[in-house]
Amino acid sequence: MSAPMEVSFSAPPPPDAASAAAAAAPSLVPAVAATAAAATTVLLHATSTARAEDVCAAVERMLEARSLSYVDGPVPIPNDDPFLLASVKRIQICDTDEWIENHKVLLFWQVRPVVHVFQLSEDGPGEEPGEDDTLSSFNEWALPAKEFDGLWESLLYEVGLKQRLLRYAASALLFTEKGVDPCLVSWNRIVLLHGPPGTGKTSLCKALAQKLSIRFKSRYSMCQLIEVNAHSLFSKWFSESGKLVAKLFQKIQEMVEEESNLVFVLIDEVESLAAARQAAISGSEPSDSIRVVNALLTQMDKLKSWPNVIILTTSNITTAIDIAFVDRADIKAYVGPPTLQARYEILRSCLQELLRVGILTHTQGLSGRTLRKLPFLAHASVANPSCCDASAFLHALIQTAQRELSESRG
Ligand SMILES: Nc1ncnc2c1ncn2[C@@H]1O[C@H](COP(=O)(O)OP(=O)(O)O)[C@@H](O)[C@H]1O
Ligand SMILES: [Mg+2]
Repeated sequence: MSAPMEVSFSAPPPPDAASAAAAAAPSLVPAVAATAAAATTVLLHATSTARAEDVCAAVERMLEARSLSYVDGPVPIPNDDPFLLASVKRIQICDTDEWIENHKVLLFWQVRPVVHVFQLSEDGPGEEPGEDDTLSSFNEWALPAKEFDGLWESLLYEVGLKQRLLRYAASALLFTEKGVDPCLVSWNRIVLLHGPPGTGKTSLCKALAQKLSIRFKSRYSMCQLIEVNAHSLFSKWFSESGKLVAKLFQKIQEMVEEESNLVFVLIDEVESLAAARQAAISGSEPSDSIRVVNALLTQMDKLKSWPNVIILTTSNITTAIDIAFVDRADIKAYVGPPTLQARYEILRSCLQELLRVGILTHTQGLSGRTLRKLPFLAHASVANPSCCDASAFLHALIQTAQRELSESRG
């Protein structure tokens, strides 16, 4: 089984509006209040020039007239709506799990649709080449980016992890937007995802940035993601990294000074900063490097005070990292290997994609009756049926299915 998920923050309280409505509701009304704000994202065609407000109003009208349940997934664009047909590429209901538990269904009268209209930026990452042009020190994207479309949905974790991250980051931005006094209530906009390599931390940071850029589209007219790979920044060119850090932060500074910009700074593999500092102290790296690491940390610390910046960090080590700003991250989550269900879903989605493009073809032919019998036949065919492990059983199941299929075809 997978490692337990340790998320270092507790479950958020229910949203105010929903709990107030629930308290006021008569007893016949089910547990979900009538004001669940179901997020509906509307992707415009790349060439569309329709105004976001008009599209939003049209989608709201369409959803209100629909009288259906709300589940995550695409909503067909009505054939009798030429305006939506011309401007909209995709309408999708998402994040209903923010409002419901145990896969219950949200009914239309329980829902106040919140529509986010967006267009994808088609630009690939703008790269800043390293000094000898072989290694880039950072990447930059305008969000929401085409490259990250669907990334959030493709990442599968135990129930609640993605929702909690989204809620905390959204709350941090909301506190800023509403001007909550930081002397009275303290919070920051630093996220740390830590866990073994290959668990999707970097992808999750990018997906989170993309998601928030869509959610906060109406508040911020521009949204950027800057990705800095701490490891590559410090691994080779200590002599150049000072200059790179200065250049990078000057660029970020220019972005954040414009208050209608929302800026995400992803510092990937932050543990390399601590390692570089340690190596400099012990004398195995040039002492210059300590100055550079410290400069970067100071710059990061300064950046925190800007209301329109979210700092996303990842670390491949799960023990404490000796870096002050990461220590103070409000949102820390351990990201472990996928759960059994997530592993199944990952493989299923891979197969589905190969079927979609026609690389794999559907095998037809086994009846429901035969399928129901397969586990029994497979069990009877394994060498040691009294103590059979799951993978051997699956193997036998496939072989049995193939045998049944060839027999049925005669
Ligand atoms: N839980 C998961 N669900 C879906 N895909 C995953 C998951 N964990 C890892 N991946 C995939 O593995 C690849 C590596 O992920 P990455 O973000 O580079 O991991 P990390 O930064 O933790 O090393 C990506 O393609 C990602 O989509
Ligand atoms: Mg990574």
